[in-house]
Amino acid sequence: MQLTKEQIEEFDSSGYLFFPNTFNTEEVEVLKQAARDVYQEQREEVWRENSGVARTAFAAHTYNEAFRRLGAHPRLIDPVMQLLDGPVYMHQYKVNAKVAFDGDVWQWHQDYGTWARDDKMPEPRAMNIAVFLDHVTAANGPLLFLPGSHKHGVVEAGHDLETTSYPLWTLDRETVTKLYEQGGCVAPTGDAGSVLMFSSLLVHASPPNISPMDRTIVYLSLCHVENHIRQFKRPEWVAHRDFTAIEPLPDNTLIELAV
Ligand code: SIN
Ligand code: MN
Repeated sequence: MQLTKEQIEEFDSSGYLFFPNTFNTEEVEVLKQAARDVYQEQREEVWRENSGVARTAFAAHTYNEAFRRLGAHPRLIDPVMQLLDGPVYMHQYKVNAKVAFDGDVWQWHQDYGTWARDDKMPEPRAMNIAVFLDHVTAANGPLLFLPGSHKHGVVEAGHDLETTSYPLWTLDRETVTKLYEQGGCVAPTGDAGSVLMFSSLLVHASPPNISPMDRTIVYLSLCHVENHIRQFKRPEWVAHRDFTAIEPLPDNTLIELAV
């Protein structure tokens, strides 16, 4: 999949692109089963909410075959290589559960803010991809974006170690309000199998999920191979140290796993 000139312009101005129904129901089912499998594992990469339910399975591409294949899927990797102009490696991989009733908030942040401060990633030459494994609606804790906020570089942030089980560099209300006044706030929603691609500088958050519907999203964070991190303070499975360029797999790689 190659992006058109219009899509590249849209990405440049808003900081994100939405691709509805990129994966079909069979492919989504393979990935949903994979998510159920990894959340059952008792391992350090699977983080729980303060309430005990699964929050995030880190580095799931290293211990689950379906997620390994998704991490090299051509529908995801090809457009990112196009936008970042060269080969990419996997900086971070998360399967975020945001389960019905108990899925907790993600405070306002920029991913690159954390990668620059904690991992010494030289430049924001990195990108996030979100793959919806459930329908994402206004009701089940969708991602909130501040369009255009990626144009402001790394904004000031404080290290939040308390709000959730996951430490994050978060923005204060004044900063979020200023950015909102310039570009508004959107909540891209869509069917399971849809994909969002967003700049590592885009300011985003998500509210708690108090609905009866799960909201599982897989995040691939891809970085140009020359822009690899320089500091190894966080665990290897949070900020990866394998900078090998990803070779995209054939397009039917997930269907091969369907039963
Ligand atoms: C993130 O920002 O990394 C996760 C947000 C979410 O899953 O809602
Ligand atoms: Mn994030």
